[in-house]
Formats: sequence, structure tokens, C-alpha cells
Amino acid sequence: MGMDWEPWPPLQRKSNHVFVKLLVLVLLLGLSFRLLFSRSAVFLPVSESPAAVAETASSTAVVVGVVGDAEPREGSPLTDSAAPVTEEVFDDGKASQQGTISNADKCDLFTGEWIPNPSGPAYTNASCRFIEYPQNCLKNGRPDTGYLFWRWKPHGCDVPPFNAEKFLNAMRNKSWGLIGDSILRNHAQSLICLLSKAEEAVEVYHADQYKSRRWLFPSHNFTLSLIWTPFLIKAEIFENDDGESKSENRLHIDTLDKKWTSQYNNFDYVVISGGQWFLKTAIYMENNTVIGCHYCPKLNMSEVSLEYAYSKILNSVYNFVTTSGHKPVVIYRTWTPDHFEYGEWFSGGVCNRTVPYKIGEFNGSNVDHVMRKIEVEEFRRAVVVEGSETGVRLKLLDTYELSWLRPDAHSGPYRKFHPFDKDKNAKVQNDCLHWCLPGAIDTWNDLIMELILGE
Ligand SMILES: *[C@@H]1O[C@H](CO)[C@@H](O)[C@H](O)[C@H]1NC(C)=O
Ligand SMILES: *[C@@H]1O[C@H](CO)[C@@H](O)[C@H](O)[C@H]1NC(C)=O
Ligand SMILES: *[C@@H]1O[C@H](CO)[C@@H](O)[C@H](O)[C@H]1NC(C)=O
Ligand SMILES: *[C@@H]1O[C@H](CO)[C@@H](O)[C@H](O)[C@H]1NC(C)=O
Ligand SMILES: *[C@@H]1O[C@H](CO)[C@@H](O)[C@H](O)[C@H]1NC(C)=O
Ligand SMILES: *[C@@H]1O[C@H](CO)[C@@H](O)[C@H](O)[C@H]1NC(C)=O
Ligand SMILES: *[C@@H]1O[C@H](CO)[C@@H](O)[C@H](O)[C@H]1NC(C)=O
Repeated sequence: MGMDWEPWPPLQRKSNHVFVKLLVLVLLLGLSFRLLFSRSAVFLPVSESPAAVAETASSTAVVVGVVGDAEPREGSPLTDSAAPVTEEVFDDGKASQQGTISNADKCDLFTGEWIPNPSGPAYTNASCRFIEYPQNCLKNGRPDTGYLFWRWKPHGCDVPPFNAEKFLNAMRNKSWGLIGDSILRNHAQSLICLLSKAEEAVEVYHADQYKSRRWLFPSHNFTLSLIWTPFLIKAEIFENDDGESKSENRLHIDTLDKKWTSQYNNFDYVVISGGQWFLKTAIYMENNTVIGCHYCPKLNMSEVSLEYAYSKILNSVYNFVTTSGHKPVVIYRTWTPDHFEYGEWFSGGVCNRTVPYKIGEFNGSNVDHVMRKIEVEEFRRAVVVEGSETGVRLKLLDTYELSWLRPDAHSGPYRKFHPFDKDKNAKVQNDCLHWCLPGAIDTWNDLIMELILGE
């Protein structure tokens, strides 16, 4: 499998370190991706210290029957090529299903804390055969298991565990579209694993590289489609699956990607997320004309800011959704933070914590806050300005805060099979962006269940 080792985001635009980082960028750009990927890659001493928070991240966005906002990002160290799943024995996972009812109307599901959960995850690496191997941390030999024993506790209510039977019964004859990047694929695997307690999925379609796929749950006639479109807009991506790049990606900022818009009418529920790909170097086009470049110090082009590009793109997405004659339930999942420490993804960064952050211990980085803020603003605008008149059912799945509190839940070096077996001190590139399964992001699905089926 390949990794998307794109230049990691240009670093907090609002920090004081802009110059240092620019310098680093220039250096970086001078290097070929190939170089970056090689084991002996340059170790640049860029440390990502938990940046001061530019804004408060508490999610107070509750609009018109919509709860919360926030989530993950991707497109750097992350792999966007999917491995075909290997078959494994199926047996039933454990996990209790006590059905507490939470009052989602009154409680902000997305503000809370992680508390110990002795009963552990809802499925295991043995009970679910749909975990792709870079996420299968147990199989890959991750030695600590403490990260599996936490559950998300919103202030003032509880999130009931995912109930596969109830979900599938409610979704009989329905179709879901999951639209986004490899973190959404990570998310989809979690959903399929949770559902496999009630019924196992059958893959009915896949595109090259297994990036876009479709599964059917035959006895419920429930269809789940995963559509890989990391930018959501029309993009010419000039990089291979190892993240080697021949040229800057070209993004048509005013044109949505037909890959998802052409299928939109098939779905009863849609989950969309943007992500870390936006942090990459890219030439932006508007009206088929180059308007500038994001993060291209070597090219003599005007800078297109993340703020401009991302808000414009989300605005187009919501505009499409609210003006479409088709009215599925649309869930936007917010930004996902990464947790590289002691370096960036390309410079030896790791995520070796084994417990969640306590509230206030880490507040997310500036770029995380900037991106999520745009997501919340555009979401609100869509709901308040447009949604109220169009009857569109929009929901914000604000997984941002609960995800940033989980530095312990990424694959890290265990995206590879037993990385330290041969050499305890092996230098292994860490994945501190995608998440182990089972693990923290199973909670995203508990929350989706509560958002759409909670009483
Ligand atoms: C599941 O993980 C355990 C380690 O916790 C490992 O021994 C086992 O081989 C794994 N099984 C599968 C099917 O991945
Ligand atoms: C599902 O579709 C089948 C065939 O069209 C129909 O008989 C059945 O009533 C539908 N079930 C639900 C819950 O809509
Ligand atoms: C499955 O659901 C679709 C609607 O999504 C419906 O058209 C079809 O008839 C259903 N098939 C069966 C076998 O129930
Ligand atoms: C796009 O191009 C057309 C024709 O070249 C022009 O009329 C229009 O104003 C342009 N739109 C924008 C947003 O620049
Ligand atoms: C960059 O572009 C500007 C305006 O297009 C031009 O005046 C300037 O000479 C260019 N600089 C270089 C180094 O090419
Ligand atoms: C995590 O990794 C860093 C850098 O390699 C190291 O200094 C630190 O001791 C490690 N922490 C733990 C808990 O292993
Ligand atoms: C995070 O924010 C809280 C509240 O603003 C503050 O008390 C705390 O010191 C911050 N933590 C860090 C690591 O910056």
C-alpha cells in the first residue's frame, strides 16, 4: 500500500514561526518526494509543539435541530491507497449493548471527556475482517491496549453504544454515501465492523486501488458507498500512490467533483468531510484560469490562502446540497487533528502516548482551529441562511474536540506489521493521522447513531 506522504501542512499560518516554517518549506520543496520517502530521509528539526489555541474550540454550534460540529484531517502522512481486505475467521465480538437513552436535544454530544470503559471495544481484530491492515494495530503488534478502554462522555448525557440491529432495521432499503478522503475510509471500516455484529457486509463494487467501494448488507438491503474524493472539487492529482509528485495538484475551486455529485441522488444519507489534502501544495483554478497557488514559495504566484479556498469549497458543497432537488440527510464531519510530536510526519514525528489528553493538556494546533472554524461557519451559514427554507436536513458531526484528545489512538508505527521485530530501534515512519481499529473513532459512529436515531 502506498502512503500519501504529501508535504505536511504548512504549519500554523498564524504562528510566530512562519519564517522558520517557510524556510523549512523551501528546503522541503527542494527535495524530491522519493527522497522524503526513503528510510534515510532528512530529519528536519521541526518540532510541532502544541500550539496555543487561537480560539476556543468548545462546540456550541447547535442550530435548527442540529447538534455540534468538528473532525479529522488527512492527506499527509496518510495513505490514501486502500488495501484489499484479507479474509479472516468471523466470530462474534463482545461488547455490551446497554441502551441508555440520551437527550440529544439538550446535550452537546461533542463537548465532554474520555472516561475509562472497562468493557472495551465493540469488536475485535478477530471478529471483524474488514479492518485494513494499516489500521489493524492489534494484528500489527501494538503492545499497549489501554487505548481501547475509554469511552466518550459528553457533559450532561451519555452516548449509548452503537446498536447494529437497530441501525440496520432503521436503514432497511436505504443507501448511504460516504464522501471524502482516507480518514473517511477509516471511519467506514469502523462502521462496517460495528454493523458486522448484526450482519456482515458483502462488497459489491470497488474502483482501482479500493479507494471507492460499495458494500451491501443483503438481508437488510442496506447499501454503503464510499466515494474517494479528497478535495470534493474537480482536481487533477499529479501524484502516485506513494505520494510521489510530478507536479503541483491543480484544483478547480469552482467545480465540484462529479464523482460524488453524479451519485448524490442515489443516497438517503450522506456523510461528507474535507480534510488534510487541502493543506497540500496546490495550484488553484477558477473559471479555468489560474488564480494562484497555495504553499508554493518556488513559483512566482500569488498565494491562495487556506481560508479562502476552504470556505469557498465548502460554500459550493452546501450550495449544491441546499439547491439540489434531492433531499437526503447530510452529515458534515469536522476536521481531524493529527498528533505528531518530536517532529513532523516527514521528520521522525511520533505519537507514542498511551492515554488520552486531559482537558486543557492539549488544545489542538492553530491550523486545526482555522480549518474547523471555517467548517463551522460554512455549516451555520448553510443551515441558517439556506437550510431553513429548503427543507434540507443538515447535521454537523463535530468530532474535532473528542479526536484531538486522543493522541494515543493512532496507528503510529503499527501501520506496519510488527515493525520492531527485527530491530528494536528501527526507524519507522509513523502514522499519527489515521486511527487504530477498533479504537477511538468507533465513537464517531456511536455519535452518528445518536444524531440520526437518538430519541
Ligand atoms: C488479533 O490481535 C492479536 C494480538 O492482540 C493477534 O495475536 C492476532 O493474531 C490478531 N488476529 C487477527 C485475526 O488479526
Ligand atoms: C423494502 O423494499 C421491499 C421491496 O421493494 C419492500 O417490499 C419492503 O416493504 C421495503 N421495506 C421497507 C422497510 O421499506
Ligand atoms: C432495495 O432497496 C431499494 C431502494 O433503495 C429498492 O428499490 C429495492 O427494491 C430493494 N430491494 C429489495 C430486494 O428489497
Ligand atoms: C468566468 O469567465 C467568463 C468568460 O470568460 C466571465 O464572463 C465571467 O465573469 C468569469 N467569472 C468569474 C467568476 O470570474
Ligand atoms: C514575479 O511576478 C511578478 C508579476 O507577475 C513580476 O513583476 C516579477 O518580476 C516576477 N518575479 C520573478 C522572480 O519572476
Ligand atoms: C516518545 O518518543 C520520544 C521521541 O522518540 C521519546 O523521547 C519519549 O521518551 C517517548 N515516550 C514514551 C512514553 O515512550
Ligand atoms: C488550553 O486551553 C485552556 C483554556 O483556555 C488553558 O487553560 C490551557 O492552558 C491550554 N493548554 C495548552 C497546552 O495550551
